[in-house]
Amino acid sequence: MKYLVTGGAGFIGSNFIQYMMDKYPEDEFINLDALTYAGHTNTIERFNEYCNYRFVKGDITNRQFVMELFSKEKFDVVVNFAAESHVDRSINDTSAFVLTNVLGTTNLLDASKKYEVERYHQVGTDEVYGELPLDRPDLLFSEKTPIHTSSSYSSSKASADLFVLSYYRTHGLPVTISRCSNNYGPYQYPEKLIPLMICRAIKDIKLPVYGNGLNVRDWIFVEDHCSAIDTIIHKGKVGEVYNVGGQSERTNLQVVNTILEKLHKSKELISFVADRPGHDKRYAIDFSKIKSELGWAPSMSFEDGIAKTVGWYIDNELWLNEVTAGGYQEYISKMYGI
Ligand code: NAD
Ligand code: TYD
Repeated sequence: MKYLVTGGAGFIGSNFIQYMMDKYPEDEFINLDALTYAGHTNTIERFNEYCNYRFVKGDITNRQFVMELFSKEKFDVVVNFAAESHVDRSINDTSAFVLTNVLGTTNLLDASKKYEVERYHQVGTDEVYGELPLDRPDLLFSEKTPIHTSSSYSSSKASADLFVLSYYRTHGLPVTISRCSNNYGPYQYPEKLIPLMICRAIKDIKLPVYGNGLNVRDWIFVEDHCSAIDTIIHKGKVGEVYNVGGQSERTNLQVVNTILEKLHKSKELISFVADRPGHDKRYAIDFSKIKSELGWAPSMSFEDGIAKTVGWYIDNELWLNEVTAGGYQEYISKMYGI
């Protein structure tokens, strides 16, 4: 099998390539990534030793480039991770999200249709379902929960999902979609909650917690997400959406306190800052469909996963320094002013 993995120089895409190359050494993997602020060559340099791997620098919004690549390579499977992925950035920059997440996805769909790929898998998010209330722990997102987005990020991802499903219905393209909860683990860019807090706590810099810190997310260790996508590609039914969750709901404050405990740092580093506009209260996933139909369930507990992740960031200071060179400090000062 020949795979195209887009966005494979980012967090989840790079973990997915590693997972798949270890599991399927006979398959071939082409990583297409534009190397935006979120994609880094030092995330993927470890793949150079694999002879079944190639990197192609390119932008999925460039239709002609995408068509030519598909014509030349004849992919069997396409897995689309490439995206603008940070809600905070989407608050002031909708257009980048529409371009990559919507237009980029439709370019990949057209190319997949024209060159008759055997499977197009779209990496989606649980954020398309909007928010759940904090006082109803019994409520969970199922695949039947209506789309009800809050941010330009989630709106663009929901739009992409709708295009993907429409290519199944209208053109018979063999598609699947996964909608996963919040990931954490090695190689996550330090703009998202967990790596941001680890990196700042290591350096004794204040930890900006939005609002009262009581918003809830369901955390999944990145390798569990990778195994879910693998399961869907190999066993999933085309035309279907599968929710993927980590069975680890935590308030943001609980997450930050756990990180501080692991690093033996003081809770006084926590700084409550203005809330994010449109901040979704709670995400929680019902993953009974993928569990009962495909036999997948997450295997990493939050306690083990966070210990592993904190340890990885301590051991990989060089990676961290490299990805936070360039525009990172400017982003942080503009975003937090602290
Ligand atoms: P990320 O921001 O770490 O990586 C995105 C990658 O896409 C980067 O390498 C970037 O260079 C590349 N990219 C961006 N625009 C591109 C373009 N126009 N052409 C080619 N490459 C481009 O993101 P991530 O956290 O790894 O998320 C990957 C996917 O998983 C996204 O689609 C995201 O919506 C989805 N997802 C993420 C989470 C999460 O918690 N991080 C949860 C559920 C779903
Ligand atoms: P984030 O990692 O941005 O993921 P998402 O918003 O897509 O779920 O944020 C996770 C939670 O952490 C979310 O409730 C917002 C909160 N948060 C903070 O409190 N402070 C921060 O600096 C960041 C980046 C997030």
